[in-house]
Amino acid sequence: MERTFLMIKPDGVQRGLIGEIVSRFERKGLKLVAAKFMVVSRELAETHYAEHEGKPFYEPLLNFITAGPVFAMVWQGDNVIALTRAMIGKTDAVDALPGTIRSDFAVHTNLNLIHGSDSPESAAREIANFFTPEQLVEYEHTIQRWI
Ligand code: PPS
Repeated sequence: MERTFLMIKPDGVQRGLIGEIVSRFERKGLKLVAAKFMVVSRELAETHYAEHEGKPFYEPLLNFITAGPVFAMVWQGDNVIALTRAMIGKTDAVDALPGTIRSDFAVHTNLNLIHGSDSPESAAREIANFFTPEQLVEYEHTIQRWI
């Protein structure tokens, strides 16, 4: 079963969208296996966004992600990486399809509400950056029998 790392960014927390966003993934039938409300340190932000070091948006991105609390999560399900990326929508809200989180709630690329892993390799690395193995909770999620 595939897992992904999702993080509601400081703008999503400040705008009171945690419940709305989590609800979308719950209603889809995906399984929440870990969650943490936290402030991202500069060090963790550098690790998480290491692949973007040197890009023009790197420093603003680090300042943004450390500016306030985030809601970090791990979700599980068949094709969970592709499904959640599709539900989140394209990076730039202008390109995001209607019905996606970014189309429905975001206006700017730099304030785009939520991060989602883009590959199994990224997911494994990002989950390990934010959670210990013990924090990933194993339990039976009966809704998946019906989807
Ligand atoms: S790239 O270069 O195509 O890999 O970049 P992209 O996937 O579009 O974006 C990588 C992350 O950087 C964020 N981003 C920005 N932040 C601030 N300002 C600007 N202009 C900007 N452009 C991109 C973007 O939201 C991505 O963050 P995550 O958390 O991965 O979604």
